Amino acid sequence: MNTPLADQGFELKPIPAILFLNNKGGVAKTTDSSLTAENLCLTKGKRVLLIDFDGQMNLTMYWVGVDHNEDDELIPPRHPDYDPSDEYDQEHLTERSNICDIFHGRQVLPHSTFLGPDDPEDITSPRVDIVAGSREGMRDILQNLNKSGLTDKSTGQVLETTNAGKLISQLGKFCSNPALAEQYDVIIIDSGPTETPLFSAAIQAATHVISPYKPEEFSIMGTSTLINAIRKARLNRIGREEEINFLGLLPCLVDLGRDGSHEETITQVRNDFAGDHFPEGMMITNTTAISSRQKKTSKKPDSVFSLPPSHKVRKRCDPVFQHIHDEVFSL
Ligand SMILES: Nc1ncnc2c1ncn2[C@@H]1O[C@H](COP(=O)(O)OP(=O)(O)O)[C@@H](O)[C@H]1O
Ligand SMILES: [Mg+2]
Repeated sequence: MNTPLADQGFELKPIPAILFLNNKGGVAKTTDSSLTAENLCLTKGKRVLLIDFDGQMNLTMYWVGVDHNEDDELIPPRHPDYDPSDEYDQEHLTERSNICDIFHGRQVLPHSTFLGPDDPEDITSPRVDIVAGSREGMRDILQNLNKSGLTDKSTGQVLETTNAGKLISQLGKFCSNPALAEQYDVIIIDSGPTETPLFSAAIQAATHVISPYKPEEFSIMGTSTLINAIRKARLNRIGREEEINFLGLLPCLVDLGRDGSHEETITQVRNDFAGDHFPEGMMITNTTAISSRQKKTSKKPDSVFSLPPSHKVRKRCDPVFQHIHDEVFSL
């Protein structure tokens, strides 16, 4: 059984949190979050905690699946360890545990995934666990922001007033809890494309930010705004104290060689954002070895990192993930 994540007060150091961020959709934030988790687990032996911080819930869908409510909206899956007759669970958790619970003063239960040990008591082996996202939860938080107070749906109790500042710091507080280091080595946050206080919350929770982009719809304006938001967060840290590092813009969904236009755009972006771009030659190409992963929801999806290192997709991908690993774990 996964232990609820809560204040346990161990003298451990906060773990790093990698955030995939871009205010555009369809640039591979979710795919890259999963690939980084798989890479760190399968090739580096890390214990990874994924956080789905996007109301679209694509990351949750891929790793553990989602349910639908009566209006056919996506809802987080039931957690198998939640016991509705247990008083502790009733008070501290929700049946469909998800990241929005932290904004209501609750604990969260991460789900185990197909990557990890079979023994539920084993907390030292490499793994990928995920805290589910919630479409409704995110919508509620934003709708109730600065209103008289949030109502806890399950109890009808009105919670204390939430202002944007408190909301923004909450995820950072959760991620920097040293007790997490008992069970995990790194957090990976997949964020949504909208610029709301939740977007700021994600930035404030991160120690490392990566901004995937598609080298065909590149907008300098949007990118400057994004980089400025990260710079501002560096100067005004709320939620967690560790500094924030921008690992840079990462070209994704790259088609090499067709008419050379992707290569051209990447060169131009590298020139425009010299210090804020991944090193030359690092990119993730558009390949079915990556996109086909999503179709295998009912059985264990294959990972790109189960392919032999000599495979051409791995040869392209490996330097990117090695770089991320080295930056995050300061080698
Ligand atoms: N390297 C890749 N090769 C092939 N398809 C990819 C790759 N990266 C992402 N995709 C596909 O592109 C689409 C958008 O990716 P996604 O990760 O959902 O973007 P975002 O989270 O930024 O909206 C998805 O259908 C995904 O399967
Ligand atoms: Mg996404």
